[in-house]
Amino acid sequence: MRTLLLVSALIGSLTAIPIPYHAFCSSLWLFEMPCAEISTTLVKQIEAFSPMIGCEKCQYQLVSATSVVIKANHTSPDGLQTENITFTLNPTIMASGCRVSAQSISLSFTSLLDDGLNYCNLYNLLSASGLTSAPGFIEMTNEWACLGYGLSTCKA
Ligand SMILES: *[C@@H]1O[C@H](CO)[C@@H](O)[C@H](O)[C@H]1NC(C)=O
Ligand SMILES: *[C@@H]1O[C@H](CO)[C@@H](O)[C@H](O)[C@H]1NC(C)=O
Repeated sequence: MRTLLLVSALIGSLTAIPIPYHAFCSSLWLFEMPCAEISTTLVKQIEAFSPMIGCEKCQYQLVSATSVVIKANHTSPDGLQTENITFTLNPTIMASGCRVSAQSISLSFTSLLDDGLNYCNLYNLLSASGLTSAPGFIEMTNEWACLGYGLSTCKA
């Protein structure tokens, strides 16, 4: 009886998991480069990818930029999906480096798996601007912090 109650309580809490869901990706990037350079590079790349023309990698819009926080959004070519993007830059004590916390979150309710859409929003900026080969570049994330990270094809 006790077991039965426990099982039904478990099933009850499982069905309470909110679905649909705002898919998101959170990643941490380290560089052996001053934050000022990283920030300028990211803003330039967002602006270069700004034209609202049919290219999937484009469609970014800069919302605001300070030396510490860069905000942008990205819209799918059909205009149906938008993601908010936020970069937070903090200098590291060692090696005059920079620690960048990068986040992309879907504004619409999408399924839990976004096929790496949010990851690719972040990675495409990094890759196109050449920051993936910047000194000391390391990326730290995983499937828990970044949905669809392992499934994303933009990294290939
Ligand atoms: C994206 O950001 C731009 C610039 O701030 C803004 O005009 C636009 O409304 C935003 N798009 C969405 C869907 O939030
Ligand atoms: C997305 O960005 C816009 C503009 O910066 C903001 O008003 C809105 O609250 C953000 N939404 C989410 C879910 O972060």
